[in-house]
Amino acid sequence: MNTTQLRQNFAPRLVAWQKQHGRHALPWQGGANGDAYPVWLSEIMLQQTQVETVIPYYQRFLASFPDLKTLAAADQDAVLGHWSGLGYYSRARNLHAAARQIVDQHGGHFPRHIDAILALPGIGRSTAAAITAFAFGERRAILDGNVKRVLTRVFGIDGWPGEKAVENQLWALAEILLPSTDIQAYTQGLMDLGATVCKRGRPQCESCPFSDDCIANVQGRQRELPAARPRKSVPERSTGMLVLLNAGEVLLEKRPNTGIWGGLWSLPEFAESENPLAAAHRLGYQAVLADELPGELPAFNHTFTHFRLFIQPWQLRVERALSAAEPGRLWLSLDELDGAALPTPVRQILAGLR
Ligand code: ADE
Repeated sequence: MNTTQLRQNFAPRLVAWQKQHGRHALPWQGGANGDAYPVWLSEIMLQQTQVETVIPYYQRFLASFPDLKTLAAADQDAVLGHWSGLGYYSRARNLHAAARQIVDQHGGHFPRHIDAILALPGIGRSTAAAITAFAFGERRAILDGNVKRVLTRVFGIDGWPGEKAVENQLWALAEILLPSTDIQAYTQGLMDLGATVCKRGRPQCESCPFSDDCIANVQGRQRELPAARPRKSVPERSTGMLVLLNAGEVLLEKRPNTGIWGGLWSLPEFAESENPLAAAHRLGYQAVLADELPGELPAFNHTFTHFRLFIQPWQLRVERALSAAEPGRLWLSLDELDGAALPTPVRQILAGLR
């Protein structure tokens, strides 16, 4: 099937799939009867949160604030309390502010006109479209993260969807694909397919109504589509560095000959997840945070040609140096730094101690 044919029968296939395999028992489905308030509430809660998480919050919220005027009259603390644990609390603050705006400007009735809906805080183009499609049966295109994934895969659209040109292309496609009837089942179908079949990792292509025509599936490019955000110029790594001091000397380790700083004498490193005291212990030293020294030294970036290294040094006093001469380790006097083969950032750290 060519792309034109696929565009033409995309909606009927999705609607047929939704009716048979989509989600139908969600608490915000069906009961709207032109009341946009529960639809609006559900769409806001579902913006960054999965259906299973949202359901109990949605039910508690509606039990306490059953209609828009009750919500507008409520204390902000009470509203935020019902959001506690859902995250992204600006959603709740915007919802509350929008309810008050609707009472002030629209007599407490959720507006019907798309421009008035878009003027409410917390409602962007896709959410406004979802609300009007579900609550009023309007024929409008949605484009959230799930839909972007479905469309880039099925139609083989390259480029990062966060980029304006790609996003515009996806909006245009989403508009072209709209059916003339069944907008609710179609809109729900896009969301259901993205959430349950066309998942980010491990998409279930064998259950997808578009598997025979989906460009990502046919070409085996599910992992490449949608394209990832382009990496910022250079990748970043981070490391902790241990400055272990004992009697005016600092512990250095010889780096392997390959890789960065090959063969130089450097400070022992530890991961962000490791406590510096534990790292010293791993090396065989009893270290303490010295009273007279700041433990955590200022962090800084060191830039290589191919990556940037974020370095967080920690200064600890070693109670006793366990073994005097270990291969690959060296206790260097802080007065002898000048001739030593040290990487630049290590020299900077140690020079700052003198
Ligand atoms: N995600 C956003 N809106 C949704 C809805 N109405 N149903 C299921 N998932 C959604």
